[in-house]
Amino acid sequence: MAQFSLSVLTAFFALASVAQAQCGANSPHATVTGSSTFTANRGSTRVYSGSDYRAAIQAALDSISSGQRVAVMASGSIGASTITITSGKTFEGCGTINVSNRSGRGAIEVTDANDVSIPYLTMTGSPYFGLRFSGTRNLNLGKITLNLSGGLGIRFDRDRAPNYNVKMDDIRVTGASSHAVETWNIDGLTINQVIARNVGESGLLLQKTTNAHVKLVDGNNVGAGTGYATLRMANENGKLNGNWNTNVWVDRVVSRGGGRGVFCVSQSGGVVITTVDLAQNGNNAVLVENCYNVSIRGGTVNGGGEVRLAARSEFANNRDVWITLRVDGTSVRESPCGDNTNWYLSGNGARNIC
Ligand SMILES: *[C@@H]1O[C@H](CO)[C@@H](O)[C@H](O)[C@H]1NC(C)=O
Ligand SMILES: *[C@@H]1O[C@H](CO)[C@@H](O)[C@H](O)[C@H]1NC(C)=O
Ligand SMILES: *[C@@H]1O[C@H](CO)[C@@H](O)[C@H](O)[C@H]1NC(C)=O
Ligand SMILES: *[C@@H]1O[C@H](CO)[C@@H](O)[C@H](O)[C@H]1NC(C)=O
Repeated sequence: MAQFSLSVLTAFFALASVAQAQCGANSPHATVTGSSTFTANRGSTRVYSGSDYRAAIQAALDSISSGQRVAVMASGSIGASTITITSGKTFEGCGTINVSNRSGRGAIEVTDANDVSIPYLTMTGSPYFGLRFSGTRNLNLGKITLNLSGGLGIRFDRDRAPNYNVKMDDIRVTGASSHAVETWNIDGLTINQVIARNVGESGLLLQKTTNAHVKLVDGNNVGAGTGYATLRMANENGKLNGNWNTNVWVDRVVSRGGGRGVFCVSQSGGVVITTVDLAQNGNNAVLVENCYNVSIRGGTVNGGGEVRLAARSEFANNRDVWITLRVDGTSVRESPCGDNTNWYLSGNGARNIC
């Protein structure tokens, strides 16, 4: 009997821990349910009932306190408007949130707020920015799926307060006309993966972002016909305390077709990319232009545009570049010669290097 109870208990806790990993599980403090009429409840208190999906979501968010959680079980459209999440709140988008374009604004925004968490979100539509952030601390993004028909997926603002300690787990973006994920002004960024499919500009664009660790960026048909890349680092990315000592680590970049594979530009660097798998990129498979302390430690390039080290005259030339790569079916070109370039190449690609 005691043994039986123990195994029932064990099974119960096993189920409970599975349930915890589901959107909306385990009694969120507030919920949004319904279809054409939406209801927001905080516990047993109704805080909104009506046809406005955005108003229902915002009422649920506004009804909870810091440390509490909202789960949006309903699907619906918010139109050209914005959902705002304030400090300490957890937002779970369990239905599909369809959005449209509010010029210059995010469909979901977190501004000057600490400890906001979005463990789950599915978004469709054509936003200006799907998610827009600035001035955040300890922001946590979990499983985020943005199936867009235009717009930019996730944006950290350029001209607003910086962000500290941002975590992203599994970010999947399709159909953005601009970037899947664009960062500015983050100190402390951890990303498990960004998966970008059929995206107009970059997969992951890092700018003025330091102390970053990205496990995987995987792009297919990203930035076709443009100079953007599956992974682009620009505008002094990785410059920390006036130098480029390594502080950006990228474990793996995979890119197929589209524009560029890996692009470092405009005084960025301080980066180690452990391995790349680039094939049939329509523009340069790799372009390093006016960057400092850049290492690509291994991987392959198959066909597509050339692997190129270049420089524009407005910034200092490339320096301290280490590239270990197997390049087949496309060429490798260094022009002008960089300062302390170190090539370790294999494969059949033609070479024009210093
Ligand atoms: C998404 O929202 C747009 C704009 O409000 C609307 O035209 C479209 O029909 C909506 N799509 C869905 C699937 O609800
Ligand atoms: C999002 O796109 C993926 C891949 O195309 C698809 O499997 C999924 O059903 C889509 N989800 C929504 C809500 O559109
Ligand atoms: C959103 O609207 C702005 C201004 O009206 C426009 O410039 C932009 O291209 C639109 N973006 C999308 C994704 O439709
Ligand atoms: C590159 O970064 C490494 C630290 O990871 C540092 O040891 C090295 O001095 C840097 N090189 C240059 C030339 O900045």
